[in-house]
Amino acid sequence: MKIIGTGRAHPTKVVTNAMLEEFLDTSNEWIVERTGIKERRLISDERLEDLAAKASLLAIEDAGLKPKDIDYIICSNVVNEYITPSLSCIVQGAIGAKCACVDINVACSGFVYALDMADDRIKSGKAKNILVIAAEEPSRMVDWRDRATCVLFGDGAGAAVVTEGEGFLGSRMGAVSMTDCLHYVRCLEPTPYISKEEFSAPMYMNGRQVFKTAVMLSSRDIKALLADKGLQPEDVKYYVLHQANMRIVEAVAKQMELDLSYFPHNVEYCGNTSSASVALLLDELHRDGKLQRGDKLILSAFGAGFSTGTCLIEWTK
Ligand code: COA
Repeated sequence: MKIIGTGRAHPTKVVTNAMLEEFLDTSNEWIVERTGIKERRLISDERLEDLAAKASLLAIEDAGLKPKDIDYIICSNVVNEYITPSLSCIVQGAIGAKCACVDINVACSGFVYALDMADDRIKSGKAKNILVIAAEEPSRMVDWRDRATCVLFGDGAGAAVVTEGEGFLGSRMGAVSMTDCLHYVRCLEPTPYISKEEFSAPMYMNGRQVFKTAVMLSSRDIKALLADKGLQPEDVKYYVLHQANMRIVEAVAKQMELDLSYFPHNVEYCGNTSSASVALLLDELHRDGKLQRGDKLILSAFGAGFSTGTCLIEWTK
């Protein structure tokens, strides 16, 4: 398959580090030094489904298609207001598409996983034009009294339209069950029969463990994928990494022995938008005219699970 269109939508509310200083025991200096984040865009009066629909319509327009041309939708999402129906189904109605749709939850790795699944579906001949969405509101998962997590996240939606072509050169997907490292637990409805103890709690994250695991697994998978394809690290124009923390991006660049200029970033004004982050950055690069036909790109993300997804694409637009 190949990517033929991208789109994105950010919430309008911009929350700076100074605004967080007003109610948290934190400082702009600490947040910038440890994460690179200066501000983040957070959902206030919007609905995630509207941001997802907006990003989708932009991607479809960029692809030169109409919603009716889309024959499959894959949406990466961890939480939104609906447990059911799926966010992909809600967006399908909002944009006026008529096709099968499915949500996946691979935490922050979801956009890369969804592209990999889209490639399989196109190769099998079961779909021609697939809309891949990554829409996330991690700001609704964290405890806003917990300075160690709430300062890190932002909300947003990114999308891509893919079709038959030769732009998906390879991928490596992985998962290691590490529930203790990063999780978010919600109680379901009570029943007369439940006898086990259950609880709801905001997101828990062991930041240091996530940091180390992310750097180790991401650089391992990127190196293995490049070796598999007979490419040198310099043959890739941009490494579009999950925007969780600028220090993680820098650490992966160091592992790859590459200059930071190969690693575009927007974490400074978006924060960590979970699986939307790679999609948002890809659209930003495309719309800013930074991508040329024939450029090789690595897209790589990691997240709760612990999940990892890395793919090599050639920009064909
Ligand atoms: N403001 C000020 N101080 C803070 C703070 C904040 N927002 N958050 C934590 N601290 C404090 C801690 O309480 C701790 O204080 P102590 O030494 O008195 O106990 C100190 O800063 C150091 O905390 P630590 O957790 O060791 O810092 P760190 O250098 O590991 O940075 C993260 C914390 C979360 C930024 C970092 O671990 C990280 O980015 N991890 C990866 C997270 C990630 O990518 N998650 C997304 C997965 S998809």
